[in-house]
Amino acid sequence: MTQSYQIIDHEYDVVVVGAGGAGLRATFGMAEKGLKTACISKVFPTRSHTVAAQGGISAALGNMGEDDWRFHFYDTIKGSDWLGDQDAIEYMCKEAIPAIIELEHYGVPFSRTPEGKIYQRAFGGMTTHYGKGTAQRTCAAADRTGHAILHTLYQQALKHKAEFFIEYIALDLIMGDEGECLGVMAWNLLDGTIHRFRGHQTVLATGGYGRAYFSCTSAHTCTGDGNAMAARAGIPLQDMEFVQFHPTGIYGAGCLITEGVRGEGGYLTNSAGERFMERYAPSAKDLASRDVVSRSMTVEIREGRGVGEHKDHIHLNLMHLDPDIIHSRLPGIAESARVFAGVDVTREPIPVLPTVHYNMGGVPTNVHTEVLNPTASDPNRVVPGLMAIGEAACVSVHGANRLGSNSLLDLVVFGRAAAIRAAEIVTPGAKHKKAGGDNGARALERFDRYRNARGGTPTSQLRLSLQKSMQNHAAVFRTGETLAEGCTLVQNAFAGLSHIGVTDRSMVFNTDLVETLELDNLMYQAIATIEGARNRTESRGAHAREDYPDRDDQNWLKHTVTWVDDKGKATIGYRPVTLTTLTDEVEPVPPKARVY
Ligand code: FUM
Repeated sequence: MTQSYQIIDHEYDVVVVGAGGAGLRATFGMAEKGLKTACISKVFPTRSHTVAAQGGISAALGNMGEDDWRFHFYDTIKGSDWLGDQDAIEYMCKEAIPAIIELEHYGVPFSRTPEGKIYQRAFGGMTTHYGKGTAQRTCAAADRTGHAILHTLYQQALKHKAEFFIEYIALDLIMGDEGECLGVMAWNLLDGTIHRFRGHQTVLATGGYGRAYFSCTSAHTCTGDGNAMAARAGIPLQDMEFVQFHPTGIYGAGCLITEGVRGEGGYLTNSAGERFMERYAPSAKDLASRDVVSRSMTVEIREGRGVGEHKDHIHLNLMHLDPDIIHSRLPGIAESARVFAGVDVTREPIPVLPTVHYNMGGVPTNVHTEVLNPTASDPNRVVPGLMAIGEAACVSVHGANRLGSNSLLDLVVFGRAAAIRAAEIVTPGAKHKKAGGDNGARALERFDRYRNARGGTPTSQLRLSLQKSMQNHAAVFRTGETLAEGCTLVQNAFAGLSHIGVTDRSMVFNTDLVETLELDNLMYQAIATIEGARNRTESRGAHAREDYPDRDDQNWLKHTVTWVDDKGKATIGYRPVTLTTLTDEVEPVPPKARVY
């Protein structure tokens, strides 16, 4: 029987869950518009994972040569392998330019050109003139751009008097009788109290779920809590089979080495010292899109041309770069390479390997960031009271493969879009509806169940087994056979939750319980990812099926939506991809062959 917990009630106009780039941009935008805004975060805001973003944020400013947001629009659609929604991509690429100027005015310390303009570097898949030239479009603050942006956004949120609930872990959404969202339940890790937050809008800004895998560039906290809360509220997750492997994670450690290294002139070599990307992407070479580079590296290793004692990784070379460039533009990666690989980048190559980095999938939303729960007759049905932004959302601007530096952009553009939409639909100070639905009881039942879990399986053991299953069975290359095996293993892991044992019953900073709740969250997402991958019998973007090597627009130019129930059973449906634009300022790009 569920223990009765004393609940502390709060009422806000809007409640934002997550304080990374998207959450903070939405939080201060809402507060600025006069909405009483709460932001709940399980970590101190400036420790959110946005802080780890290195290379930069894209916008066609044209500071380093000709550029146009329409080129950016084209590149993003091609990068997405045509699974991205073109209305949302148009919105993001056009809004990128004022969004960066806004960030500059808020105080982001961007690197500068000699003339004092924002410095921009080349990134993969970014071109001019619809694939003809190389664009320098990625605005950088050395190789610590996420750190610079996150701190600036937090300062703005404090300035606008948003209210923060820090080291509170969100437990579950409170859903009303009509399927609307009424708020969220949370546990204060510092003093053990339980809180019920009512909001006219609740915004999921909880990031990705890289930790479903064994080796990832994501922080330990990246467990996609909002995605799982949506799934438990009966909302599907969209396009979860598309998981991005960043080409250059440090071998053995997983830490990110920014694509900006290749943007500044670094290149990859195999055991013969060959610049092999010239064979796979003759035009873009090392700056092809990430899915292409990660697959090429994997083929090199598989065919025996990997480097090192076990021939199981690749070299990233930057010894030829001017040390002044490394010092001024890439200081962070020089330090990471030294600490995590024992390498002096001015003398030796960095050992690297494709590493899980980003989730293209997430909670489906429209371009206004409102969450969708599609039906057969209404693929765009809105869930009242619920929004999702950033990596937690699938709006979908990244489709089957995200271009590097479009992620920080997604955060600020759609964080701002959520604030604009909330100001349109929420009246400041409006009375809250009488609580309907379960009023938080479902969240407390789950909390209590895990708090009292006394099975024989430690959380860390079950998590490792999930992570290894995902790493081995939903990798850069997939087959029907490996995915079917993986589905069984992940289903077994899900079932293993009922045998878990939590050693500590404390309500205060009980990290064993936190990690168990996070593991439960990872399970829903792992199921949606691997079942979606088994189901999609084509290759598109980051989803490379060796048994179905071609893209199949006839049958698969559609979004996967996957509902996962509380037994781990997946039910798969589809939504159409938007192939039209919002305005006539740009022409839609019809699907065609994707070569770099
Ligand atoms: O390589 C990087 O700096 C990563 C950037 C991104 O994922 O957008």
